[in-house]
Amino acid sequence: MQNNDAVTQILIDEQEIIEKCKDLGKQISQDYANKNPILICTLKGALMFYSELVKHITCAFSMEFIKANSYEDDHSTGKVEIKSMTSFEIKNRDILIIEDIVDTGLTLHRLCDYFKENQAKSVKIVALVNKKTKRLVEIHPDYLGFEIENHFVIGYGLDYNEQFRNLPYIGIINPKYIKK
Ligand code: IMP
Repeated sequence: MQNNDAVTQILIDEQEIIEKCKDLGKQISQDYANKNPILICTLKGALMFYSELVKHITCAFSMEFIKANSYEDDHSTGKVEIKSMTSFEIKNRDILIIEDIVDTGLTLHRLCDYFKENQAKSVKIVALVNKKTKRLVEIHPDYLGFEIENHFVIGYGLDYNEQFRNLPYIGIINPKYIKK
């Protein structure tokens, strides 16, 4: 993997992400004081964002992990598969879904339905990045890090075919890595 030329432009650097996590963490801590929410990490993309965000949350909460897949190469297949990595009771709990990026919105739409069908008390979305231009369904993150234009981005957990998740920033992928 050639990380040194993986991106053509850095859009959001590590320090900006950390500062944003501090703000989001503060807001969530106030909004969820005494609610003991479940913070759901959507694997694998949200892992780095999740790890930073939880450091800045000061109220009680529990951590759970699910996997939601819909992407092949650089496009959404439209079919969302959900697998829970840990077992936990959803009924009557306040759920916060922590997601890396919202694109078509299909993944979060499916996830929100899943938690509502399982009788969660409330379901809200925390997203690091929002790409509004390719939306197929209406989804509005309740807590949002950054808005970006319609680029395919990698880094800070975001991948292209499982590569580049470890970059400590979010950047536009170098087209030479995109399969023709
Ligand atoms: P959606 O269902 O189309 O909203 O897509 C959500 C998922 O697609 C995200 O959780 C990512 O895994 C993936 N995804 C969407 N856009 C990008 C991108 O620019 N880079 C890497 N992954 C992306």
